[in-house]
Amino acid sequence: MFNVKSLLVVALAGFSALAAAHPDNKNGKYGKDHKDNHNDHDDDKHESRGPRNFIMVVPDGFGPASETMARDYMHWKDNSTAVLPIDEMVIGMVRTKATDSYVTDSAASATAYSCGIKSYNGAIGVDDDYEPCGTVLEAAHLEGFKTGLVVTSRITHATPATFASHIYHRDLESEIALQEIGYAHPLGRTVDVMLGGGRCFFTPNTTEGSCRKDGVDALAIARDLGYTTFQDRATFDSELKLPYLGLFTNDHMSYEADRDPAIEPSLKEMAIKGLNDLYRATKDSKKGFFIMVEASRIDHAGHANDPVGHLHDILAYNEAMLAMREWIDEHSDSPTTLISTADHECGGLTVGKEISGPPGYWYDPSFFAGAKATSGPLSKQWAAYTGSDQKGYLKSEIFAKYGVAQPTEQELSEGIALKSSASKFSKFLTKALSSRLGVNWATGGHTASDVTLFGWGVNSKTFAGSRENNEVGHFIAKQLGLDLESVTKKLQSNETWQADWVKPKAGHQRSARDLHSHHH
Ligand SMILES: *[C@@H]1O[C@H](CO)[C@@H](O)[C@H](O)[C@H]1NC(C)=O
Ligand SMILES: *[C@@H]1O[C@H](CO)[C@@H](O)[C@H](O)[C@H]1NC(C)=O
Ligand SMILES: *[C@@H]1O[C@H](CO)[C@@H](O)[C@H](O)[C@H]1NC(C)=O
Repeated sequence: MFNVKSLLVVALAGFSALAAAHPDNKNGKYGKDHKDNHNDHDDDKHESRGPRNFIMVVPDGFGPASETMARDYMHWKDNSTAVLPIDEMVIGMVRTKATDSYVTDSAASATAYSCGIKSYNGAIGVDDDYEPCGTVLEAAHLEGFKTGLVVTSRITHATPATFASHIYHRDLESEIALQEIGYAHPLGRTVDVMLGGGRCFFTPNTTEGSCRKDGVDALAIARDLGYTTFQDRATFDSELKLPYLGLFTNDHMSYEADRDPAIEPSLKEMAIKGLNDLYRATKDSKKGFFIMVEASRIDHAGHANDPVGHLHDILAYNEAMLAMREWIDEHSDSPTTLISTADHECGGLTVGKEISGPPGYWYDPSFFAGAKATSGPLSKQWAAYTGSDQKGYLKSEIFAKYGVAQPTEQELSEGIALKSSASKFSKFLTKALSSRLGVNWATGGHTASDVTLFGWGVNSKTFAGSRENNEVGHFIAKQLGLDLESVTKKLQSNETWQADWVKPKAGHQRSARDLHSHHH
């Protein structure tokens, strides 16, 4: 755990960066025409030497209230007034709307980050006309940089997918897997480091737990293409040559609160391993590396309205950010820029409720103290209980493990009534804790709220201000000297690939139902 106390001194540094609003972003320049593809925005008039490496960090579904909730928890826990590591890295805000919705999903927003273009909800590296767009990762690979994707979701999930694959709908994860490893990709293999979850889209439908609809063994194909593939902690801890593909879980990796460190490494461990391996592999070459690191599951906990999952994944994101920032400071021989921003807010989280007595308002993070697990596993554990002391078990093994030490009689009887429905009980449990904390959730989905922009390292401050999300893609390209346009042309020239792997069949209609069918 980072030591918040030692960080107090630099706390004010971030504010001056916020005040330096960006000069050339006025009068809705980016609001009018989302598709102003890869034009220069002279972002970096005052730029000195460019970076060798670029780290893009996406805390998925992380809104401003989430940051407050976590910081105040740390204040309570450490009895301090220190700030979070990310508080010191604030450089601005990001506006996130998609082309077809004021409220974006991860696919559209991550496409803005990877390609520098706005697209529709569900789009994976394609524009509104389903045309593939060159990504910063692909362009970096073509220019001789090494590349990485490090996530806690399935590696085929929307955010990582938009950096190394192109397809009209985010749910087509079997196809995304084959593109990501370079098999169904016109540029071949473009990713050198891949770490995360989601083995189920790489194993043939004849294996238990597979999510594929076909008999393709994508792990075997990955090995043929040169990847070392693995799924265990011991191999992760050993020295590995690039390229490698480490998938630790069948589905998403565990929430930080539920994670078994003997089986799954933390986000921080994966990110630092990625940085070290990419650094070593590029030490003697002209170009450095590009890596996208995603704290994927902050978002999932937001969808579930689960404050425990949300909090601990936010703290894990902070630990990873602190470690990466220290890594950058320690590797001045290989200058690095880090930009981090969520793709959107999730849950419509608010921190605080009104109470009648003084001080008039309530947020009490002390209720987080007893929480040892997220609502999902606890609900399954409760559904599986066959003993005779239902009330005692519910109180001490379920409620208490979720931070609710004193459930009311009413809550106990309702909990017993909901025992057989894990999903209903799970919602009920999250509500019991949320109301004690004084946090509220407006929705089980995303909201249009702006998200905070964080930066560190070379030239990061030149990106300060209020930004449209697709400016992030342009900034990365500019810093690394990448030509996205030429990659887009390369991709679009391959008609057979587009017909087979990218575009929907004739007559396809985008439907909202499609979009909501995906599992987060
Ligand atoms: C919290 O910090 C304050 C000021 O440093 C101190 O007076 C107080 O005793 C501390 N409380 C606890 C519980 O440590
Ligand atoms: C088009 O992409 C496919 C990958 O699906 C690749 O096998 C093929 O070589 C590419 N064709 C050209 C002309 O680049
Ligand atoms: C597995 O995939 C093959 C095609 O590769 C298909 O013929 C078969 O029906 C699938 N089996 C199941 C159980 O889905």
